[in-house]
Amino acid sequence: MSKEKFTKKILCIGAGYVGGPTMAMIAARCPQYKVTVVDINEEKIKAWESNELPIFEPGLLDVVKEARGKNLFFSTELEKNIKDSEIIFVSVNTPTKTFGEGAGKSADLQYWEKCARDIRSASESDKIIVEKSTLPVKTAIAMERILNENERGLKFEVVSNPEFLAEGTAVKDLENPDRVLIGSKETESGLKARNEIVEIFSNWIPRDRLITSNLMSAELSKLVANSFLAQRISSINSISALCEKVDANVSEVSRAIGKDSRIGNKFLHASVGFGGSCFKKDILNLVYLCETFGLYEVAAYWESIVKMNEYQETRFVQTINKALFNTVTNKRIALFGFAFKANTSDTRESPAFYITKKLMEEKAHVVISDPKAIKNAKVDLKDFNNKIEYEIDPYKAAHQAHAIAIITEWDLYKELDYEKIYNNMERPAFIFDGRNILDHQKLFEIGFNVYPIGKPHLIHFNES
Ligand SMILES: NC(=O)c1ccc[n+]([C@@H]2O[C@H](COP(=O)([O-])OP(=O)(O)OC[C@H]3O[C@@H](n4cnc5c(N)ncnc54)[C@H](O)[C@@H]3O)[C@@H](O)[C@H]2O)c1
Repeated sequence: MSKEKFTKKILCIGAGYVGGPTMAMIAARCPQYKVTVVDINEEKIKAWESNELPIFEPGLLDVVKEARGKNLFFSTELEKNIKDSEIIFVSVNTPTKTFGEGAGKSADLQYWEKCARDIRSASESDKIIVEKSTLPVKTAIAMERILNENERGLKFEVVSNPEFLAEGTAVKDLENPDRVLIGSKETESGLKARNEIVEIFSNWIPRDRLITSNLMSAELSKLVANSFLAQRISSINSISALCEKVDANVSEVSRAIGKDSRIGNKFLHASVGFGGSCFKKDILNLVYLCETFGLYEVAAYWESIVKMNEYQETRFVQTINKALFNTVTNKRIALFGFAFKANTSDTRESPAFYITKKLMEEKAHVVISDPKAIKNAKVDLKDFNNKIEYEIDPYKAAHQAHAIAIITEWDLYKELDYEKIYNNMERPAFIFDGRNILDHQKLFEIGFNVYPIGKPHLIHFNES
């Protein structure tokens, strides 16, 4: 298909965890469109053009290869590509603000606003701008004002299309999403723009899963969806603390309540805590929004989800310290996993970071093992780098260790030969299963002292 025959020219600004996979899927499912992804990070763009993609996501390379060079292109040339496109998705990072008003809670919109200004100055024709990034409610209205304040009479319509993919299952989620949400103004031009975006996704997604709303509902729904998901995790984690006190088993409790169809069984898995770049950021964004409107009780309710998560991380480190006779100093502790969850190399806000930091403060000898995330872990822990050991092979990481802590639920950790591992560890040997993925009874029979989350500890001596 020659370039002239493309029926839509789509640009995405931001080639990260969302922009890259989302655009690859659109390009692969819609060969009639030309899709270009730009980023200011040259190294990232080179990686997208190679077979060593900048992010690890199962199945992603195949999707990229399906379209790359045909109708999917990666570039660092912003201006030219803005000029050349009709629809621009903006998928840049929107981290929590670290300075000034709203620091620690509200979203830092500088990257987003810069994009809006870049789009305005480079454009020579009307365009639809799609918010893919997660943004505070009413950002679209503000952006439309900035964009439409131009001297060339150009008309920009901003549409909200928040992304609900989960890292680790991004390809599956994009291929077969529960829903795609498209919000717009309910004016004639707003509805026209909305329909253009609906048309893109209707190339492979059934119409009944393409839901539409007004702009503010779409923006708010994304914050609320992540807050509800995180709330489920914090709820079950809070119960895990109680289970440990009363000899209940949190997995049995989860199963019992999850069978209730009103509750459902998803996201009821107790763990060391949630991580990732979005949950905490989006909840705090919601909290800030509530505070802005004087809804202090609502804000406090949602903020408690984050506090419970921090409590769970702290509790995990305290359990390690207490079990190891109240001192981890100079003890070799192998962390199995550094990614914030399995099947991703992403370590942003991973509980592993907090746990490592706390163990380092206690002068433990920390060894980090992870099949995909060691490169990112080294960046995150650069302040400690000469004191931390990195070892991709879990057997070597656990060699002569006092304890193993499972931080990420990688399948490979379920399949290790724990007898072999135990035979090479210091005595007494401890295992802290922060994801409840191992066979605890079997580990106990091998000789380990086993500390799951929210379940009775299995130990070979009297715990005082
Ligand atoms: N990661 C997820 O699972 C996920 C899921 C749903 C929604 N989101 C939201 O999507 C947005 C993007 O998240 P991400 O995880 O993909 O972030 P990311 O940090 O992986 O990617 C953002 C990219 O934008 C680029 N960028 C920033 N400013 C730019 C500019 N002016 N011009 C060109 N490129 C620029 C950065 O270099 C970076 O590569 C965020 O708002 C996030 O909350 C993320």
